[in-house]
Amino acid sequence: MKRKILYISSEAYPLIKTGGLADVAGSLPTALHNNDQDVCLLLPAYQTILDKLSEKKVVAETSHYGQEIRILETTLPGSSIKTWLVDCTQMFDRPGNPYLADDGISWPDNAERFALFAQTAVDIALNRCGLSWQPDVVHCNDWQSALVPALLKTFPKGPATVFTIHNMAYQGIFSSQTFFDLGLPAGLWGMYGLEFHDQFSFIKGGLVYSDRINTVSPTYAKEIQQAEFGYGLDPLLNHRSQQLSGIINGIDTDVWNPETDKLLVQNYSRDSLRGKLENKLVLQKQLNLPVKKGIPIIAMISRLVEQKGLQSILDAMPELMQLPLQIVILGSGEKHYEEALLDWANQFPDKLSLTIGYNEVLAHQIEAAADMYLMPSTFEPCGLNQLYSLCYGTLPLARNVGGLADTVIDTNDLTLADNSANGFIVSQNTAESLLSTLKQALETYQNQKLWKQLQHNAMSPDRSWQSSALQYIDLYEKAIQDNSHRF
Ligand code: ADP
Ligand code: GLC
Repeated sequence: MKRKILYISSEAYPLIKTGGLADVAGSLPTALHNNDQDVCLLLPAYQTILDKLSEKKVVAETSHYGQEIRILETTLPGSSIKTWLVDCTQMFDRPGNPYLADDGISWPDNAERFALFAQTAVDIALNRCGLSWQPDVVHCNDWQSALVPALLKTFPKGPATVFTIHNMAYQGIFSSQTFFDLGLPAGLWGMYGLEFHDQFSFIKGGLVYSDRINTVSPTYAKEIQQAEFGYGLDPLLNHRSQQLSGIINGIDTDVWNPETDKLLVQNYSRDSLRGKLENKLVLQKQLNLPVKKGIPIIAMISRLVEQKGLQSILDAMPELMQLPLQIVILGSGEKHYEEALLDWANQFPDKLSLTIGYNEVLAHQIEAAADMYLMPSTFEPCGLNQLYSLCYGTLPLARNVGGLADTVIDTNDLTLADNSANGFIVSQNTAESLLSTLKQALETYQNQKLWKQLQHNAMSPDRSWQSSALQYIDLYEKAIQDNSHRF
């Protein structure tokens, strides 16, 4: 059935991206559209986005917290998805990262910024600002849009709501005073509402009030109901387990496809992997590494934060630097990780290439050039880089958590026999475990016939959005049904 979906996110590729959420919000709406859904995307009008727009069409106006707000209309580049931008100079028209000031600390007015974003989303969701479009479902993502389901449930009638958890580690926690300063409906306060240990939690808006909750892999949906991964919200998620599910992320195969990727030196495919080697030799030269085709490159393109297993990598470094390999890291994040990696890169320039920063072109080139991809995450809701790696025939070394457990299949006799093996599992969050898996991978790499078989396995499955988009459409129907019981 054709439904109207308002898809709300704080980032969407290619307009603004800090992580995987942008990849999802930049591609799932198109997959829904291709399956006959009427989807509109809603984003804050950050300066980075405004700078990219050639024309700015104001289609509606509203105001909240004493601020004038314009709704701008554009199209998500490379798609036909109608995109509305919440344009409020004071809140969003500032340089840099959407969430952080230059010093790496959260913008001090983040609660107000994303409360204003949510209030404006509610105006649109209730068709109150003259856009003549009444959504059937409002689909929110992560804490930045999590107040929307809460606010919508304070109205007697409204669209169904779905909330997707991309990462439980980011919850949007502020002081209780902030809740009252924002003039939010008093009925939303309390332990069964937005209060979390005397503080104000944005994410609880999504977890308590949405008709349906999902996360981005089936395994993470189970993990967050346990204390180890639940950050204190596991009892609430257990309570809502009937409405909680996991849907694995797909990837945008127009952007991530080694056969057509225009950023590569040479395109290649599952059946013709020779071009991959060409990418490797060029990258080695470009990064000043010894140009040697037989030495495996192990890559990592990532936010440099604890989640991504940086501690186990650093602990393993002394031994890693003695192994026959080259490591290529592209990333940015916590300063202490950047500095520690830089120290190793300076000591072993022939073994470790480190590029600090954010570089999309290089990210594609590394995926194509590398032989293996390192992702020993402590937790991973879904993970996109292991999916890109699999498509590029770059075999992942990954922890068996979250979406990694659902997509990376360890190489052993059984999985080799049924042609499902596509990578190597690191079973513990320790340097020893990482090194032992890596040594197994290096040994396997020596058997190039077997390696090619693993690459073939990795590159064969369809990792596009199609099957997950159908699961979202099904979830929307369930949300509509649950919401209808309110009346
Ligand atoms: P997360 O969202 O937790 O950071 P994901 O694996 O879901 O992890 O998505 C990360 C996305 O960000 C991928 O598209 C990855 O290629 C990209 N990315 C991360 N760091 C960089 C970087 N330094 N340069 C370019 N792309 C990056
Ligand atoms: C989050 C998670 C990552 C996931 C991404 C997109 O940032 O850390 O695992 O792939 O969201 O859903």
